[in-house]
Amino acid sequence: MSTPGTIRLDVHLTGADADAALRADVARGLTARPKELPPKWFYDARGSALFEKITELPEYYPFRTERALLADSVADIARSSGADTVVELGSGSSTKTRLLLDAFAAAGTLRRYVPQDVSESALRGALDDLRAAYPRLALHGVVGDFTTDLHRLPGAEPGGRRMIAFLGGTIGNLLPGPRDAFLRHVRSVLAPGEQLLLGTGLVTDPDLMVAAYDDAAGVTAEFNRNVLHVLNRELGADFDVEAFSHVALWDAENEWIEMRLRAGRDMRVRVAELDLDVGFAAGEELATEVSAKFRTEVVDAFVVAAGFEPTRRWVDPERRFALNLLTAV
Ligand code: SAH
Ligand code: TRP
Repeated sequence: MSTPGTIRLDVHLTGADADAALRADVARGLTARPKELPPKWFYDARGSALFEKITELPEYYPFRTERALLADSVADIARSSGADTVVELGSGSSTKTRLLLDAFAAAGTLRRYVPQDVSESALRGALDDLRAAYPRLALHGVVGDFTTDLHRLPGAEPGGRRMIAFLGGTIGNLLPGPRDAFLRHVRSVLAPGEQLLLGTGLVTDPDLMVAAYDDAAGVTAEFNRNVLHVLNRELGADFDVEAFSHVALWDAENEWIEMRLRAGRDMRVRVAELDLDVGFAAGEELATEVSAKFRTEVVDAFVVAAGFEPTRRWVDPERRFALNLLTAV
């Protein structure tokens, strides 16, 4: 049983695991054609701090829109759910989640919050802030990778029920194959009747979507380039980070925003720890992240295929974002 007011941090992804995974991802990604890097490496302490700045940008509407949807829906969600544990995947600073925690606390069922994130720095910061704000809640942080480590998340309390929250439109950062595998993985760790609260960006005006990932102040560009700083520090690489420019474009066929880093000139990059030399031609692009946007029918199709029933959905008046309450069947 979790004890009120306790705080615990489990590390499912140790520094050594992360290092081995980073080496494998970089060795593969920089020798692939086109070159690519998986997005979870954006989120070192600096990357997580830059993401927090993104959430405050005027162009980054997904954060505000989802927050408004949560404000409108959390009382209903908490009343109908009866969950005693809220688990959150990719929880970051847990800022918006407070709306959910407050509503569950008001409904009187909440005992435990389990934030999971690959970024230990973001998680530690969130736990410190939450401890002060929720002195009676059991806090159980998990440093882990939501694509591989879900089976190690804490189970339900005896007789209790969990709700998993996956917010921020982060599901859109997974390509379709990994996304479907991820949802099946989430479903497999839930008992029938337990719920998933899923935030999804919707397909909207391309100019608006592109601006959200290419802001005027250049914060997103800095966030994207941060992955090169991570490689320089962790793997002894010698990327001239400023020689890469940020590219964000709308891929209308796949219905995703695609982020890339474009080499400004011919370059040779050495990744010392991998004993790897990589050439970039001027203009060559390195794919770093997609952020898929959905149509509500598509969301219904992929959640049903993974074994969830769509229970309720909240959409903002401009139809830019949806919050989907799903029940494991
Ligand atoms: N949920 C927050 C943060 C979204 S940004 C919000 O809605 O504002 C995406 C978050 O997912 C970051 O905190 C990042 O560290 C985390 N993340 C990215 N890839 C991950 C992975 N594979 N496993 C766990 N967390 C991951
Ligand atoms: N989950 C966020 C999203 O897709 C992550 C994100 C926001 C992001 N801005 C970004 C990822 C810029 C890479 C680059 O909206």
